[in-house]
Amino acid sequence: MLRVILALFLVAGVAVASWADDITYRKHIRPLWEQKCAACHGAGSPYLGEFLENEKNFTQQMKGPRMDTYADLIFFIGWPDTGAIMRRLDDGKSAAGGKPGNMYQYFGATEEEREKNLNLFKEWVGQDAWKFNRWEARGKVPAITKEDMDKIKVNY
Ligand code: HEC
Repeated sequence: MLRVILALFLVAGVAVASWADDITYRKHIRPLWEQKCAACHGAGSPYLGEFLENEKNFTQQMKGPRMDTYADLIFFIGWPDTGAIMRRLDDGKSAAGGKPGNMYQYFGATEEEREKNLNLFKEWVGQDAWKFNRWEARGKVPAITKEDMDKIKVNY
């Protein structure tokens, strides 16, 4: 009996692990992004450089910086806007302040849906790579380390 239970645990463990490894931009993130983010971050939005020159105006028009391709999206994870996706989309539960990022609300209409989609993003970026650090230190938050950067997965 014990052996059967152990075997079941093993199978379940393997299933979870392979699910996590299989999260890709094409299969999971792109469709979710189209549903939840495209309206404000699509081809009609400015690239970050242009956005920052006129941040107030674009924000009033509900236009965030453009991130409508794989390359343009990982720009907000790795470099140069290091950790922006993590800071803006987190639910705040693991942070000391406990405040969700201001894009978390767009993950869904219910808390259940928001948590599910947050977890999908976390699996894609890498649970261990879900860090809020920027490229450079700011205040008490140190700069991201090479070691942390190495943990980023973002499979295409
Ligand atoms: C209703 C419009 C809207 C939706 C939907 C939306 N965003 Fe945004 N987003 C904005 C605007 C406007 C800004 C810029 C203002 C600000 O910084 O809050 C922004 C800023 C951001 C930033 C910060 C970029 C930076 O400058 O560092 C990230 C990251 C982001 N959004 C990701 C997302 C993701 C991922 C989704 C989908 C889950 C999403 N947003 C959905 C409007 C939106």
